[in-house]
Amino acid sequence: MQHRKLAFIGAGNMTRSIVAGLVSSGYPKELIIASNRSRPKLDALQEELGIKVTQSNDEAIAFADAIVLSVKPQMMEDVCAAFDQSIDLSGKLFMSIAAGLPVARLQEMLGGKYPLVRIMPNTPSLLGQGMSGLYANADVSDSDRDYVTGVMGAVGKTLWVEKEDDINGVIAAAGSSPAYFFLFLQAMQEECMAMGFNQQDSRQLVQQAMLGAAQMVCENPQLELSELRAQVTSKGGTTAAAVNSLIDSDLQGIVAKAMQAAVARADEMANLF
Ligand SMILES: NC(=O)c1ccc[n+]([C@@H]2O[C@H](COP(=O)([O-])OP(=O)(O)OC[C@H]3O[C@@H](n4cnc5c(N)ncnc54)[C@H](OP(=O)(O)O)[C@@H]3O)[C@@H](O)[C@H]2O)c1
Repeated sequence: MQHRKLAFIGAGNMTRSIVAGLVSSGYPKELIIASNRSRPKLDALQEELGIKVTQSNDEAIAFADAIVLSVKPQMMEDVCAAFDQSIDLSGKLFMSIAAGLPVARLQEMLGGKYPLVRIMPNTPSLLGQGMSGLYANADVSDSDRDYVTGVMGAVGKTLWVEKEDDINGVIAAAGSSPAYFFLFLQAMQEECMAMGFNQQDSRQLVQQAMLGAAQMVCENPQLELSELRAQVTSKGGTTAAAVNSLIDSDLQGIVAKAMQAAVARADEMANLF
């Protein structure tokens, strides 16, 4: 992986996770700086991960060749507007992990057309099991792409999309989907409890089944999902009875409708900030 001088503007949960992933994968600590409005998170990052920290966004930007904008979307405009205009930003690579902010809007906020990658991470990135969608503007080089793949690879898997609209598909499939799985598990847990298991046992039954199933999916990339299902579904058996009930209730249609709702909301949110 390439090692560039890297700044994080905003040192919240997502920054902390990415930095932890980078440091544990051997990225030189002295090349990473994080800036934050208040001090406590910076002190923790410095003590625990050994990176440089500052309360000055300008100091972080001046130091780095690559800059991750990691504040909340509604803060982004004010944060960018406050950058010291005398700092030469030419040649610097920008990455934004702010949910819902389109590249054109980010360029407006930065006041120039810099190489810019929009990143859509998801919450499991906080545990190093993320799935991030990446979209680059025309000024991003192949080498920049490799670099960003490495940075986000520190907290999970990455997928480049060639059309910015496809980021909304990433949101529907990976950004929002941990909550779909939680909802499905909750429904299963509640039914376990209705069958008489206590809450803790119900949770263990469903969460371990989910973990095992996810592992089977990941460890058998050569098998289609439908084949994996067929392998565990004997004709006339209990699994077949349950799966047929889900199919008869149009699970596929329900899921499609939910994912389209996420895409529609992502479209609306692109105009919010
Ligand atoms: N967490 C997720 O799962 C997730 C998933 C997808 C996308 N994202 C995106 O990732 C970005 C960061 O999210 P997060 O969860 O890490 O948020 P967070 O924990 O709230 O972190 C945001 C940080 O920005 C700092 N900040 C605010 N104003 C600032 C300023 N003017 N200068 C410097 N720092 C400033 C805040 O400092 P204080 O401590 O002083 O308030 C805070 O530490 C967001 O845009 C979010 O949309 C997050």
